[in-house]
Amino acid sequence: MSSNVKMEKIVSLCKRRGFIFPSSEIYGGLNSCWDYGPMGVELKHNVKNAWWKAIVQERDDVVGIDTSIMMHPSIWKASGHIDSFTDPLVECKSCHLRWRAGEINNERCPQCGGELTEPHMFNLMFKTFMGPIEEETDTIYLRPETAQGMFVDFENVLTTSRKKLPLGIAQIGKSFRNEITPGNFIFRTREFEQMELEYFVKPGTDEHWLDYWVKERFNWYIKLGIREENLRLRQHSKEELAHYAKGCYDIEYLFPMGWSELEGIANRSDYDLTQHAKYSGKDLRYYDGESKERYIPYIIEPSGGVDRSVLALLIDAYREEIVEGETRVVLRLQPSLTPMKAAILPLSKNERLTPLAKKVYAQLCPSFMTCYDDSQSIGRRYRRQDEIGTPFCITIDFESLEDNQVTIRERDSLAQIRVPIEELEKTLAAKLSGEPFEATPLWATRQK
Ligand code: GAP
Repeated sequence: MSSNVKMEKIVSLCKRRGFIFPSSEIYGGLNSCWDYGPMGVELKHNVKNAWWKAIVQERDDVVGIDTSIMMHPSIWKASGHIDSFTDPLVECKSCHLRWRAGEINNERCPQCGGELTEPHMFNLMFKTFMGPIEEETDTIYLRPETAQGMFVDFENVLTTSRKKLPLGIAQIGKSFRNEITPGNFIFRTREFEQMELEYFVKPGTDEHWLDYWVKERFNWYIKLGIREENLRLRQHSKEELAHYAKGCYDIEYLFPMGWSELEGIANRSDYDLTQHAKYSGKDLRYYDGESKERYIPYIIEPSGGVDRSVLALLIDAYREEIVEGETRVVLRLQPSLTPMKAAILPLSKNERLTPLAKKVYAQLCPSFMTCYDDSQSIGRRYRRQDEIGTPFCITIDFESLEDNQVTIRERDSLAQIRVPIEELEKTLAAKLSGEPFEATPLWATRQK
């Protein structure tokens, strides 16, 4: 089992501190649907921005797009989703709960022990109708992956970007799957967000690029601060490979329920463009100016889940520490990922302190996500900030009125330094980008 953090602790922290709530809660919730609250939305943005920066911004061989969720229904015929995006489903004849056949060990219902029906294939795509008439011919689907948008836009992107192969097209967006057994909080849901890269390469170079992307993506999670011992690579066996894949690796994380997929990196061969060429009637071959050949590119696809990354990051960063005999919960997230970079905490609500504290807050807001908190004791306010992972708390006290200096307290070491207000922004920027925080810890008794 994972770094012995229980999922309930993460769910409870997420609710308590405004990271993630059950969707539609005042109506009793909606199974497997979750809303990101004020802290969660910031964390999620930061994860997506980190991915975009590494995949699009810092590379000249990848461009980004944002395609529509509803697409031409023939796409799902061509991709194989209408025929094969299915799970075998069985239903209990007594309690009517439904299960994925693969989850059942002894042919009886895991809930009540009742007899199960024969399996039948269940398509995981959500259907709806386009236009006012609900007829079979007007059926469309909510996309179950963002990938198809990159395949069908390949030609448009290639011509407008004036790039050559190898060329990557990247997208972040919502996908929908009518999962039979969603669960484990945001790990498996019916509406989720994906971060997908489709990297188009010359046939024959595909093995090299698969290897390259597996390494790149594994290292990305380490760079985000996930502990290496909680990550592993797993190669798919031949039997396990999806119908389009020539090879595939999963990056797995040690979640509380055990090792589970965080991201898949697949060699999709020339399957996708071949299928779309066939169904659309368009020639999707690439003209290679160097070799003077025309060919259908192979595609290497690193495909990760935003929500699963958020969950893994929360679990990995969660700590309970004893400080001066009391337990504090702290999220040791990297500063680039934390919802707030700084919190302004006047020592009290005293009317002499408030104007200066508000001034410091207004000064920092344009540069950093900053929050202001003057309710309850300073100790409690520190705890709240620790729980959301805020790297720096800035205290304004009566001395600040005299010397125009404030105290910065660092989340992990609990060390404190005093800096002039006019230096604050510069100091924070330096500390947020990794400059050491040199000061004597106030609480030397801290234990892990
Ligand atoms: N285009 C390939 C593709 O979609 P996938 O392995 O089915 O591959 C890729 O999905 C990633 O999307 C997974 O590794 C996972 O992170 C995320 N994902 C898939 N289904 C999910 C679900 N029901 N809930 C949350 N995340 C999901």
